[in-house]
Amino acid sequence: MQIAEALQAAAARIGREDAEHLLLHVLGQSRGWLFAHATDTLDARRFNTFERCWQRRAAGEPVAYITGERGFWTLNLKVTPATLIPRPETELLVELALARWPQEAAWRVADLGTGSGAIALALASERARAQIIATDASQAALEIARQNAASHHIGNVEFRHGAWYAPLAGERFDLILSNPPYIEAADSHLETGDLRFEPRTALASGADGLADLRQIIAGAGAHLKEGGWLLLEHGWQQGAAVRGLLEVADFADIATVQDLEKRDRTSLGRWAKAQ
Ligand SMILES: C[S@@+](CC[C@H](N)C(=O)[O-])C[C@H]1O[C@@H](n2cnc3c(N)ncnc32)[C@H](O)[C@@H]1O
Repeated sequence: MQIAEALQAAAARIGREDAEHLLLHVLGQSRGWLFAHATDTLDARRFNTFERCWQRRAAGEPVAYITGERGFWTLNLKVTPATLIPRPETELLVELALARWPQEAAWRVADLGTGSGAIALALASERARAQIIATDASQAALEIARQNAASHHIGNVEFRHGAWYAPLAGERFDLILSNPPYIEAADSHLETGDLRFEPRTALASGADGLADLRQIIAGAGAHLKEGGWLLLEHGWQQGAAVRGLLEVADFADIATVQDLEKRDRTSLGRWAKAQ
């Protein structure tokens, strides 16, 4: 069978974009290669591998769990069902952090709930003098994050296991970031699409989706240096609630930043109090 025919058969079931992505993964090729080789023959072994991949996708499994990887910032990261699949929206958190972080500053930074390591590793790749601690309550996710650091030769991220600030006792940071779980526990979206396959502990956070954000905001003052920043991703309907929590916790310079779709996505505040 020709490559173009195999692609067409898969595209009819799972759509062109996913079919291409999976075929290129199986062939270990880039998109440009595909156009020049559409009439090449796909041998039986690779056709069978491709067919197994698109059948998994047709059964609902996310493409990133089938290929075992996902691009984030400039990095290709390993992902497994133990980790959230990093989202493009989360790159906004990285952009906002870098905009506040002078190139040569040797900031101490904490990434809470690091998952695949996406945020911590993106920041480390941009700030050679950073000292970053990335935490997660999931040992399985931390193992993947450690592998991602090693495969990108990133040595200035330390991974620690534990709930929110528990692994950071007595330490203060110039910047704390988190993309925590923030979906309402009863939200029916958790039972649909790719979310069905991702760890529930990475997604859901109490009845109103704010249980983890509350803990992270309430605990931040004890772990920020004077003038340090707290940057948080949240749901697009949670901007006002998160700003309210930052106010109650006595943060200054509170703001919400919208994503490219003009939805509230990230809120931030500055810890202005002396230690
Ligand atoms: C939405 S995912 C974000 C993962 C990654 N930062 C990203 O943006 O792709 C939330 C992460 O928080 C972790 N997590 C959930 N509850 C936690 C807790 N109580 N303490 C620390 N980490 C937690 C989950 O294991 C998961 O990796």
